[in-house]
Formats: sequence, C-alpha cells, structure tokens
Amino acid sequence: MKSRYISGFHDVNDKKDCDVVIIGTGVAGLFTALNIDSKKEIIILSKTKIDNNNSNLAQGGIAACVDEDDDFKSHYEDTLRAGAYYNRSETTHVLIQEAPKNIKKLLDYGTNFDQNENGNLRVTREGGHSKRRILHAKDATGRELIRSLSVEIKSRKNIVVDENVFGIDLITNQNRVCGVLAVNEKGEKIIYQSKAVVLATGGIGQIYKNTTNPEVTTGDGIAMAHRAGGVIHDMEFIQFHPTAMYSEKNGQKFLISEAVRGEGAVLRNIKGEAFMKKYHKLADLAPRDIVARSIFTEKMITNVPYVYLDITHKSPSFIKNRFPTIYERCLEEGIDMTKEYIPVSPVQHYIMGGIYTDIDGKTNVEGLYACGECACTGVHGANRLASNSLLEGIVFGNRVVDSLTHYISNSNLTPLPVIPNIQYTTHKDLDFDHIKEKLENIMDEYVSIVRSQNGLKIALKEMEKLRNQLAGCEEDRRYYECVNMCTVAILIIKAALKRKESLGAHYRVDTEGKGCIINF
Ligand code: SIN
Repeated sequence: MKSRYISGFHDVNDKKDCDVVIIGTGVAGLFTALNIDSKKEIIILSKTKIDNNNSNLAQGGIAACVDEDDDFKSHYEDTLRAGAYYNRSETTHVLIQEAPKNIKKLLDYGTNFDQNENGNLRVTREGGHSKRRILHAKDATGRELIRSLSVEIKSRKNIVVDENVFGIDLITNQNRVCGVLAVNEKGEKIIYQSKAVVLATGGIGQIYKNTTNPEVTTGDGIAMAHRAGGVIHDMEFIQFHPTAMYSEKNGQKFLISEAVRGEGAVLRNIKGEAFMKKYHKLADLAPRDIVARSIFTEKMITNVPYVYLDITHKSPSFIKNRFPTIYERCLEEGIDMTKEYIPVSPVQHYIMGGIYTDIDGKTNVEGLYACGECACTGVHGANRLASNSLLEGIVFGNRVVDSLTHYISNSNLTPLPVIPNIQYTTHKDLDFDHIKEKLENIMDEYVSIVRSQNGLKIALKEMEKLRNQLAGCEEDRRYYECVNMCTVAILIIKAALKRKESLGAHYRVDTEGKGCIINF
C-alpha cells in the first residue's frame, strides 16, 4: 500500500523559507549548490554530517577525457559497452563531453588531483576502460572532492547547511513541489518551503546485508519521489562491486578500489589460479558485472566465500604511495598487501536506476530535480562504468542549474496544501533492527547477483508482508527509514520480475538457454 505522506504535519515546530532546498551533501548536492546563482538562498539538508555519504568513500576516481591520448568517442563507447548498450545516448554524450569543463570547475574550487612531475594530471585505468582516464587523489578521491567542495560551500553566504536534519517527505500541491517536511535530531519537525527541491540523496546500499555504502543510504530520496508521484526507472540494475574486503561479519564493507586492478592486480581463486581470462578477454579489467559474476562462479566452484586479489608483484613503495588508505586498512586487518593476497568478495555498491530525469535533471514533478546516484539519467545503462559516478554527479549537478534557475526566477513559493491529519498507528511493538535484518535477508537471498522468477516472486510476497507491518504512521526516524527501504526494495523486485531477460547487472538464471551462472 502506498500512502502519500509517512508523517503528520500537525506538530510542526518551525518553518523556513528559501529558493532551493537540496537534500544530500555528496558531490552532486554540493556541486549543484555551488553553481546556482549566489543571489539565491539555498538550504542543504544533511541527514547526519556533511561528509557522511557515498561520495566521500569513493576511492578510485573520476573518469574524464582530459589526456591527449584519449578521445570522447572512446570514453562514450566504453560507457556503452559496460552499460550493455542500454544507456540513453543523449545524456551519455553530455556526460562525456561536459566532463572536461566540470573538471576545470573542480580544479578552480581547489580539488587536488594527483599530478605527474610535469604538473599534468595523472590518469589511471579501471575495469571497462580502454584508456587511462581516471583522475584521482591517491586512493581517496571522494574524500578530496568533498573536502574541497565543503570549504567552498562554507565560504558562500547564500548557502546554509542544516546537518542532522532528516528529510521525511516532499510536500506537493497538485503536481508541484512546495518544499520538504523534515525532522531534526531533537525530533522537532520543520517545514522547508521552497520554490524548487533538488534530490541528491545517494544510494540504497542498506537494503543489502553487505554493501560498500554507509549507514545513511536507505533510499530516502527515491522513496520520497515515488510517494510524490515521481517516475522511478530501471530499478532492477544493481551494481555489485567485485572487490570488497572479505570478512565474516555482515554490514558495511571496506572497498578495495578497482584502481588496484587498474595498476595490475590479479584476481586468483583459492588455489592461487588467475581465473579472469576464462571469462572475458579484458580479464581482470572486464566490466564490473562480468567480474562480479565470475567471482560468484569461482566461489561456487571452490565452495569458499572469497577469492584473492594479488598485487604483490608491484614494489612495496609503489603500493604504499599509490594506495595509502587501502594499505593501512589491510594492515589493520592483519594483511600486508605488499606481500600477501587480499581476500575479496562482491558486495552491493551502486544503483543504476532511480528517479527518472531529463537531460537537465528535471523530473515529472514540477520544481523537483534529481542528480547523482538517486537519479536515473540513463548514462549508466544496465551497468555503470567504473568512475563514471562522481562524473555524473558534477556534470548533471551542473546541468540542473540552468533549468532550475529559469524555473525559480519565474515562480513564487507554491502555497502549502491543506494536509489532512493523519491517523497515527503506533509501532512500539516493532523492532526496526529486526525488520531491517529481514529485509536484507530477502534481498540477499533472492535479489542479488543472480536472480530467478521464482525467487523474485517469493521476495515480492515477503517484502509486501514487511511493508504492510509498517502501514500507517509513526514518529520515529528508524520507522521512516524502514518504510523507505521497503519501498525501494519493492520497486527493485517488481522491476526485476518484469525484465525477464538478462541484461548488464541484472542476471536471470532462468532466462532461456541460461540454466547456469557459468555460461553467462
Ligand atoms: C572503485 O574505486 O573501485 C570504486 C569507484 C567507482 O565505484 O566507480
């Protein structure tokens, strides 16, 4: 069942007005804010802290055609090949061609990418790329981006960042957005009334048992947009990153960047055999969906829950200098990656689908824009090419601005609708941690790297049962998150059921002629 709002409005404590509310402080949200005319008043909402997001954890880098050996055509073709040719060509052209000018903006904001001895930007390679084109800041590129953008944000008088404020629902009047209902850490509700809202809320990783995403990624933006009548697209395409560090404990997993393979690391099974050549001509640098399925297969063959990543042939000084964060983290886990193999396994990493937008980040709800991971611009097709996500954040974060500026310059604040009081259902008997665990179990069992019609049908039934337990309304942030997670999970399962053929990251074992994962 779908309720328009998941919280009441009768106990709102405060109201703030501004031109634009942006929800999310990843690269897409911050970049959008910085590019909007400085005469406009902007409030950015962060669920926790400005740097607690997926962007901040991005290790590998940001793909862009800036090297003289590279060309747009090659980046475009690599993006399409990885995306199983399901990409929207118009937006993908924009992604590639507008990369250099937005990289220049990042440099102007003080982002420090690694440079060579001549002062030129250093580029590395990752899976699916036929050229070296990944700009990076050692192995903590996202951290450097968020650092530099946050410094710039703090210097802007027209931008306020409200931390520890959770966006509960978009407020709409007819099909037009008029603001956001939110709650702060004291439990006080606030209405942010604005001419436009930009959703840059990131991913959905928390619906899976194991993910590279932080605990804030509960799919809030996608669920909110869905309740407000936004079109949601391509939800079946979930990317599993092939190489998260293996541990027996479930939860957020530490990523071993694809750039490690880009610099020559090799995947080996438990017997020490390099196996990727068996599956794809690009071997260890095949697109992510292929590598993830290959590891899945090797794990099945060997009956061991991990494979190894081996970069021991590189010099210790190279490894320590190029991958300082990964090196240190491996040491903490008792692994010296200069001498030992790293145990790795695929985990959820990214969603290619989300809130459907046009080429300017505009949704079908008037005044509502979306960019970054929560948006579906179609640039990633059925499987995202490595390091195209930070790129999407800046290119479409920037593109939102022209259309949005035009819109807010020609409109007033839309009056708030009259919202009927909601009947509260107390869920005091519900254990939200337990509900989350059940939800993760369903997603892991039936909606993972490999799917089947029967499994998806069971998943849908179970997930709807969970969602029905949450019917009604409650004053609890964990409740809102659980509703959002159930909502996106159901959207994913329904989309996966509808797509009967395998495509990109969506792999159906029951597709005709494919009885077995090994034949992919
Ligand atoms: C990585 O460093 O492997 C992750 C980068 C990405 O998701 O594109």
